[in-house]
Amino acid sequence: MSIVYLNGDYMPMEEAKISPMDRGFLFGDGIYEVIPSYDGKLVGFGPHIDRMNEGMGFIDIKLDYSHDQWREVCEALIEKNGGGNLGIYLHVSRGADSKRFHAYPADIQPTVYAFAFEIPAAPVADKAKAKAYKVSSTEDLRWKRCNIKSTALLGNVMHFQQGFASGNNEIILYNANGEMTEGSACNAYIVKDGVVITPPLDNQILPGITRLMLLDILAKDGSIKVEERTVTMEEVRNADEIWLTSSSKEIAPVVELDGKPVGTGEVGDVWVAAQTLYSAGKHNY
Ligand code: PDD
Repeated sequence: MSIVYLNGDYMPMEEAKISPMDRGFLFGDGIYEVIPSYDGKLVGFGPHIDRMNEGMGFIDIKLDYSHDQWREVCEALIEKNGGGNLGIYLHVSRGADSKRFHAYPADIQPTVYAFAFEIPAAPVADKAKAKAYKVSSTEDLRWKRCNIKSTALLGNVMHFQQGFASGNNEIILYNANGEMTEGSACNAYIVKDGVVITPPLDNQILPGITRLMLLDILAKDGSIKVEERTVTMEEVRNADEIWLTSSSKEIAPVVELDGKPVGTGEVGDVWVAAQTLYSAGKHNY
């Protein structure tokens, strides 16, 4: 049985009830986070909460939970759900109104919901054990504020479904100029001649916490060169390696794009080096 958190209380998931007038339900008016935890240890907790606070600031949701309060919720959920490898989902919607009206009342009380779900064990930097991804690609038809981690995910859901229905694990998105943005639920990278290249942060992509940590770890180590710049789909199609990152997959190597092999069609050496560094460094965040 799954124990969840709702507005200050812990309860079995079946007992958690919210109003159908909640603006999260009616409008997708909310912000969320997913924080991984392995054997009870949260990864990137501080940056995840900072990003959630920033997101709530972008859309004017006022909630005064401190980092310590969120940590208490996350640790209680880990403990009440038996530990192991868990993703902690945090969700703050604007709250329930008495009517459906696009503008929101100033004094509305946010709804805070959190639950834990099982995630795979953290990847190990071993080509033989790596989960190799197959992806398709399509034009990014989401909105122009992809930097906000909004619960309104229909655009992402439609893109992910498109990739999934055609037998792929993810879908790589590109803008009207043919430049890669990100995956439907992850950030995207190419490797060319040993250099890791990923699009810069702007309104076209989510500022991923795995991305933040990976780029910081690589910069501190210094053995792998990183560039944050525009990446054309032509470069993606000619890349030696393609990677995807997200909290639950860490660094995922892509071996097939639109039915064609990426580089040699095998998991790459730079991925092994980067995942090795990430596995060693991720608990410092
Ligand atoms: N997805 N870009 C998008 C569109 C995402 O949805 C995600 C995360 C990321 C990677 O962010 P992070 O490294 O902070 O997980 C990038 C989450 C996990 C999800 O929606 O389930």
